[in-house]
Amino acid sequence: MRSDEPHEPMNKHTSAKLFAPCPRGLESALAAELTALGASAVQAVAGGVAFEGDTRVIYRANLESRIATRVLLRLFTVPYRSEEDIYRAAYDLDWPQRFDVTRSIRVYLTAQRCPLKSLDFLTLRIKDAVCDRFRGEVGSRPNVDTRAPEVRIHAFLDATQFTLYLDTSGEPLFKRGARAAQGEAPIKENLAAGILSLTGWQPGTALLDPMCGGGTFLVEAAQIALNIAPGIARGFGFEKLKHFDAPLWQALRAEAEARRKPVVALPIYGSDLYGDTLKLAHANLAASGLEQAVQLKQVNALEVSAPAATGVLVTNPPYGERMGEQQELAEFYPRFGDALKQKFAGWNCYILSADMNLPKLIKLKVSKRTPLFNGALECRLFEYKIVAGSMRGPTP
Ligand SMILES: C[S@@+](CC[C@H](N)C(=O)[O-])C[C@H]1O[C@@H](n2cnc3c(N)ncnc32)[C@H](O)[C@@H]1O
Repeated sequence: MRSDEPHEPMNKHTSAKLFAPCPRGLESALAAELTALGASAVQAVAGGVAFEGDTRVIYRANLESRIATRVLLRLFTVPYRSEEDIYRAAYDLDWPQRFDVTRSIRVYLTAQRCPLKSLDFLTLRIKDAVCDRFRGEVGSRPNVDTRAPEVRIHAFLDATQFTLYLDTSGEPLFKRGARAAQGEAPIKENLAAGILSLTGWQPGTALLDPMCGGGTFLVEAAQIALNIAPGIARGFGFEKLKHFDAPLWQALRAEAEARRKPVVALPIYGSDLYGDTLKLAHANLAASGLEQAVQLKQVNALEVSAPAATGVLVTNPPYGERMGEQQELAEFYPRFGDALKQKFAGWNCYILSADMNLPKLIKLKVSKRTPLFNGALECRLFEYKIVAGSMRGPTP
């Protein structure tokens, strides 16, 4: 017996149980964002935020959340012991009532401490259950498309419980729909947006990324400053589901468009050592119509000057995994620390790095370190509040 059905809103006023995964370390920031978007029963847990909301909240979270990776609609949670329990629970759901048989599907499965042997086999059984249910009711079954499925079904197994979700997002939400080109080791858009929120940066204050690569921080900051909904240029999984409320969706999109400010030059600055990399940043800004909003310059981060008396510097420097790179970085960091100290008094500086030696090498006083995950890579966001004089001795 399912403990807590139904979870999906059958009309736009019924509340659904939802889960939004996000980069680890950003759960509280996402919880605040979802609350502001009208979510209720908001609860940050490791790796995401559980919340409740009606169709309006689901659509708004997809369109406007800058930090969520996706928005999952919980269908059920049941206890399980065997493969057969998983198949049965998946089969019992009235799938033809959720989406049309002509939609392509894919099942994704994540497990923690699952006692059953083959996760691939379980994924297959869930897919079989969905297809069998369709065949029994409408005489045909949906096709599987592993590359670009129209409907994504996410299963989560812990040691004893099986939870099934329908993905209302489709492509993950960090795909804003406009990235033209990738630089070297780009960070995901939702991680960049979450970091901007952790820095406390507010539009109107100067923002600089002196190692901007493909410009992810710059695009996100400009979109925040101009009230551009991060999902305005893309489609969503919920458009492929039955009960899609097109008039509500059009109204929410129109509201978001109306809040959008005209593109003007903003105090947002990016620079990089390499001209080719800056071309990528320019292409990414142009793809979002933001090339007028952000100022780009080719300059070594060691020589960059502060574009304003106060502001926020945010960057993720190259991360060296090979010995030679580590040696180069060991020489770079103390000089970068010097540059910040000499030229950025009055600025708050944030450096995202997986290099736990960075604080020792940069020789500035860390005022905060926030653990974050860049994909699977454990990082810290180091905060340095640069004050003129007093914080460090001269470099030998
Ligand atoms: C990890 S990438 C930044 C990626 C960026 N956040 C993005 O999302 O695309 C590091 C960047 O630092 C740049 N870089 C390396 N050394 C530099 C230096 N001395 N001055 C300025 N930029 C530098 C590299 O060209 C590279 O684009």
